Amino acid sequence: MLGDKKVLYSGMQATGNLTLGNYLGALKNWVNLNEEYECFFGVMDLHSITVRQNPAEFRKRAKSLLALYIAAGLDPEKNCIYYQSHVSAHAELGWILDCFTYMGELNRMTQFKDKSAKHADNVNAGLFTYPALMAADILLYQADYVPVGRDQQQHLEITRDIAERVNAIYEGVFTIPEGYYGKRGAKIMSLQDPTKKMSKSDENPNGSIYLMDDPDTIVRKIKRAVTDSDNSIRYSEDKPGVSNLLDIYSAATGKSIQESEKDFEGKGYGDFKLGVAESVVDVLKPLQDNYNRIINDKAYLEEIIKKNDDKARYVANKTLRKLRKKMGFTDIPR
Ligand code: TYM
Repeated sequence: MLGDKKVLYSGMQATGNLTLGNYLGALKNWVNLNEEYECFFGVMDLHSITVRQNPAEFRKRAKSLLALYIAAGLDPEKNCIYYQSHVSAHAELGWILDCFTYMGELNRMTQFKDKSAKHADNVNAGLFTYPALMAADILLYQADYVPVGRDQQQHLEITRDIAERVNAIYEGVFTIPEGYYGKRGAKIMSLQDPTKKMSKSDENPNGSIYLMDDPDTIVRKIKRAVTDSDNSIRYSEDKPGVSNLLDIYSAATGKSIQESEKDFEGKGYGDFKLGVAESVVDVLKPLQDNYNRIINDKAYLEEIIKKNDDKARYVANKTLRKLRKKMGFTDIPR
């Protein structure tokens, strides 16, 4: 709790081009949560360096992500939007939690397995201990809820295990967080291979819709999406391509899957794909317009960064101080 509200924490890596999966599975669902919760959303730039980054590009992407949070509708006066690397408590608690996390647990992480296969020439220790840093992010703010897509569920479970382990020794240090998954769009799949999640690191650009894709590109990619030959528009496990498009439509429009199926009753795949593409254009267009306006307003962004960094630091350091004390670290003279 912070004040009289429960706390909610989430964030995204400042790497690559964000996809429709990031938006429908996470960002879109974050908007307005501040009415009920005290919200913190980090630009996870420390996590980004598990993969080599070009400095100029990295700086630009981190700033873009911050602007995108605001463009999506997160009011920076009511949500604490900040850069993870500006709050050194993340790295400090990350190290402490490394010492409470077991190699065996980390070895089981599917994201580690996927990423180390993808970057076989750079399987660094940071990639391996990534979940302990993610646990630090969440636990520093005493988060009750963490709204993420399904692919992060395993990281959330390890966060809870680490928090319980620490609490068992140093009572009451951390709130045990719970995952918070959207009803729709929690796992958007690749348009080219609907058995794989849509990912910003996909080599085939036709598999993903990027948030800055223009309407023609969106229509073209969805028209090319892999479906099947049975020409019926219904949600079913044996129809992964069609089900994924229904998921996208449902998450974009806010309609249920049944309502979405009904919208396309009696129609062919051509019309279906066009309808899905239109629903995507409709959600991305305002996001893109807002983004283009905000990204050029340097003074506004700087003011937000300063204010929110201070707030994040205040809350995070409070937790860190409490743990340091319980663990027996010597006091830092002020
Ligand atoms: P990241 O940057 O890979 O993804 C950001 C968010 O987008 C969701 N997501 C998806 N949802 C549905 N369908 C998809 N295809 C899809 N792809 C991505 C993710 O589930 C996530 O919610 N480790 C995190 C970043 C992180 C974090 C944290 C999150 C670091 N510290 C603390 C929450 C709390 C990550 O790599 O997300």
